[in-house]
Amino acid sequence: MTESSVEFEHIPVLSREAIAHLQVREGGLYLDATLGGGGHSGLILAVAPDVRLVGIDRDDWAIQAARSRLEGDRVTFWQGNFAEYDPRGQEFDGILADLGVSSPQFDQGDRGFSFQTEAPLDMRMDRRQELTAADLINHYDEAQLADIFYHYGEERLSRRIARRIVERRPFTTTTALADAIASSVPRKYRYGRIHPATRVFQALRIAVNEELSSLEKLIDVAPTWLKPGGRIGIISFHSLEDRIVKHRFRNSPLLQVITKKPIIAQPDEIQENRRSRSAKLRFAEKIKKG
Ligand SMILES: C[S@@+](CC[C@H](N)C(=O)[O-])C[C@H]1O[C@@H](n2cnc3c(N)ncnc32)[C@H](O)[C@@H]1O
Repeated sequence: MTESSVEFEHIPVLSREAIAHLQVREGGLYLDATLGGGGHSGLILAVAPDVRLVGIDRDDWAIQAARSRLEGDRVTFWQGNFAEYDPRGQEFDGILADLGVSSPQFDQGDRGFSFQTEAPLDMRMDRRQELTAADLINHYDEAQLADIFYHYGEERLSRRIARRIVERRPFTTTTALADAIASSVPRKYRYGRIHPATRVFQALRIAVNEELSSLEKLIDVAPTWLKPGGRIGIISFHSLEDRIVKHRFRNSPLLQVITKKPIIAQPDEIQENRRSRSAKLRFAEKIKKG
């Protein structure tokens, strides 16, 4: 499927819980750091007619989809990495980030996030960026690739997979890479619960988009963008992200943790939206002065 043939349909996860904990109030100004299709933003704006919002996304397609859905005069859009956002002195009543890629980005064949369809090895959330997954796969040395697969994919067979990739490269498509990964692992691993390329693809996406360092930076700076008593909520989808959120919230001198345990999806939501099964939401509040 190409961009033009895919409607930007993304079901927001943990939306009841996210909106309730954000404590959205009349006249408030909120930051949605990961607009996607504007699902969470739409719910924030729906709380009261005078709520305003700044929406960020790295992806021009997401910005375009959200722009067509959300009421323009109450929303300011910014395309870029949330870690590099400059609020220019504005202070927010609440901040929400829903990490990773959206369903349409994943399903859109030519973005290269999925190995289910043949596509160029791209994986850039922001297509203005130069580095693609193909650059990384075809030019990094074997040890660098193994480290990426091990650290960002928690892949036990990282060295073996990296060796096979280096022997067989260059690669230009997602499916050729996935086949090479599958052929490099033992048979029992090949037909296991998840496709053997799953962890490597997660690792490549994280590396291409510098996802973990962006998240760390966001949690370091975002508390300074909040009003005292304002809340920040982050939805993560794998343990590497959740660990960062948990520790950085706890160690921030400006934040008090609201959720001792992460909020997870209820069975009804998991039944409706399988993506929600791995979502974890944590909230913290900016400490009030004095
Ligand atoms: C899971 S989707 C968000 C979906 C959205 N909450 C909704 O309800 O429609 C994540 C979005 O965040 C964007 N994104 C991920 N990391 C980002 C970052 N570091 N800076 C800005 N946008 C980012 C992705 O491009 C994607 O559109």
